[in-house]
Amino acid sequence: MAVTSPLERIWWKQPIHRVELIWVVVAFLWGLIMFAMMIYWHAYGRQNLSTETYRISPAEFYDKTEAMIAKYTVREERGLPVVHPRPGSDVYLTARVWLWYPILEFEKGQTYRLHLSSIDLQHGFSLQPMNVNIQVHPGYEHVLTITPDQAQEYAIVCNEYCGLGHHTMLGKLYVVSK
Ligand code: CUA
Repeated sequence: MAVTSPLERIWWKQPIHRVELIWVVVAFLWGLIMFAMMIYWHAYGRQNLSTETYRISPAEFYDKTEAMIAKYTVREERGLPVVHPRPGSDVYLTARVWLWYPILEFEKGQTYRLHLSSIDLQHGFSLQPMNVNIQVHPGYEHVLTITPDQAQEYAIVCNEYCGLGHHTMLGKLYVVSK
């Protein structure tokens, strides 16, 4: 099949068909409506999570994680430290192949600043069964201000394919009542 020239040299200057014009207008208006809804959902919706995002080097993030672990570890599980940070404090959760590190324990009704970053590849933070989903990249950290309102055990699943051990990349978050 050959690529041939259009018959008319000014091929783009044609009247728009009415049906096409209607579709362009409908699509444009819908875009405007969704733009407004994006702002509305951010303020009043239940599905859009507000995070702060900063640049941070993987090494620096990992150092902060280790410092927090040294300060707040209360026990070990499956060879991993379980940290019970002070309410109101900054909590660091490192994603790496193929681990969420460390295991976290929060108190119900208390507020924490949860920092999320990766020290190698892109991973996906998925909190189950809450269905909170955030992409986690090396070089950037997301900070979530959270106040857990239910005492239960949450699973943290990786939902971005990150290699052979992707399906084993499971973490844990405990929320306990004090
Ligand atoms: Cu980490 Cu998939």
